[in-house]
Amino acid sequence: MEPKGDIALIGLAVMGQNLILNMADHGYTVVAFNRTVSKVDEFLNDQAKGHDKVLGAHSIEEMVRLLKKPRKIMLMVKAGKPVDEFIETLLPHLEPGDLIIDGGNSHFPDTIRRTKYLEGKGLLYIGTGVSGGEEGARHGPSIMPGGSAKAWPLVKDIFQSIAAKTPDGEPCCDWVGDDGAGHYVKMTHNGIEYGDMQLICEAYQLMKEGLGMSNQEMHEAFAEWNEGELDSYLIEITRDILAHQENGEYTVDKILDTAGQKGTGKWTGVSSLDLGIPVTLIGEAVYARCLSAMKDERVAASKILTGPDCKFTGEKKAFVEDIRQALLASKIVSYAQGFMLMREASKEYKWKLNYGAVAMMWRGGCIIRSAFLGKIKAAFDRKPDLRNLLLDEYFHGVIDRCQPSWRRVVRSAVEMGVPGPAFTTALAFYDGYRSERLPANLLQAQRDYFGAHTYERIDKPRGQYFHTNWTGRGGTVASGTYNA
Ligand code: 6PG
Repeated sequence: MEPKGDIALIGLAVMGQNLILNMADHGYTVVAFNRTVSKVDEFLNDQAKGHDKVLGAHSIEEMVRLLKKPRKIMLMVKAGKPVDEFIETLLPHLEPGDLIIDGGNSHFPDTIRRTKYLEGKGLLYIGTGVSGGEEGARHGPSIMPGGSAKAWPLVKDIFQSIAAKTPDGEPCCDWVGDDGAGHYVKMTHNGIEYGDMQLICEAYQLMKEGLGMSNQEMHEAFAEWNEGELDSYLIEITRDILAHQENGEYTVDKILDTAGQKGTGKWTGVSSLDLGIPVTLIGEAVYARCLSAMKDERVAASKILTGPDCKFTGEKKAFVEDIRQALLASKIVSYAQGFMLMREASKEYKWKLNYGAVAMMWRGGCIIRSAFLGKIKAAFDRKPDLRNLLLDEYFHGVIDRCQPSWRRVVRSAVEMGVPGPAFTTALAFYDGYRSERLPANLLQAQRDYFGAHTYERIDKPRGQYFHTNWTGRGGTVASGTYNA
């Protein structure tokens, strides 16, 4: 009998199951397999019941036998060792030209390594970001594939048909680039997700503690924000979370204030340090989660350390609008930083990323989906080689408009003693980025003073290095110059 399977999917946790059902709904025959084989029958008899396009396999051999050639096998398993283990398990059953796809949140250096490894064996490999949680997987995720370029035509139709669509009907899925490019873009997406969430949390804390607003009032503010420039999935769920009650009590008030994290935000921060790009807002967002997790220490410190005791005295409604504008301006900085990072990574890893296409992939389906990403797409359509989002006429105009509010919010937060690390760092970055002259002249002098590290001069061409004998005691010998 001719094999019928268009693609196999290994890993029947909720994301895997929902992707299978989504593919089946779009007319693809999907072979389902799971390491704990009993899960296959559970799935067939439950969620996949009645779907004749979903076939179950009870062994790797059976799964491979059911697939048309070249075989396409997608892993939806935990990132890290399980991916390598499955690759090794699959290898003896595959032939040159077959394709393995990793749809988990893998770290991009692993994807670079695995692509090279499998291409060396004549196989094809894709590492793809899949964003949107359970709902997205079932009804339209954002999909960010990278890896062996030759593999793209094999899955393009499947991926683009199951992906979310932008309001213009474009699929939120396109080829990102070689080896680890897809997972890098997904990692950056997650870093930006951390930043967006942190900004919303800071807005919430300012409203709650600074303005003394009730959950209902905050729910209404977020509902209003979601109708305008901030229209996005994360604002929308925040609106709903704030109104949610269990047994007559607000659920959000019962949740312990310690944030978890699985590492993708941290990877973004680490990569930004490796590449020398100041992605400060995501960094602060990761650190804010770390600080929140030190609950016992904070409780103890709160009994000893003091701060200002001032309450907000101005016009509340106007300040809520200031917070909205501060959030928008900070968000622009965060995305500008994220795209700066991808630009540098694209250069470093030779990926030729298409930034407009990235914005389009994030426009729908994923956790950071928003109307705002449509504006970013438009900015890259206007100028594909745009150096920095802050320099785009639209975003530059929004920042100009929001700036007075943004500064008032940062000032008030500092005065009231309400922490606003993401709002604050965004503004500091903005002021640094627009500075023709920064105090690094003094810093270079300090380095030269204590370590003869040399400096460049404003009255000499770049690339010439000078050393001053600052104390009269040092010699004229300078240390070598290099930048990490
Ligand atoms: C997505 C999300 C998802 C991520 C979770 C949890 O795009 O669907 O980014 O991939 O794993 O949001 O991340 P943290 O546990 O690190 O918050």
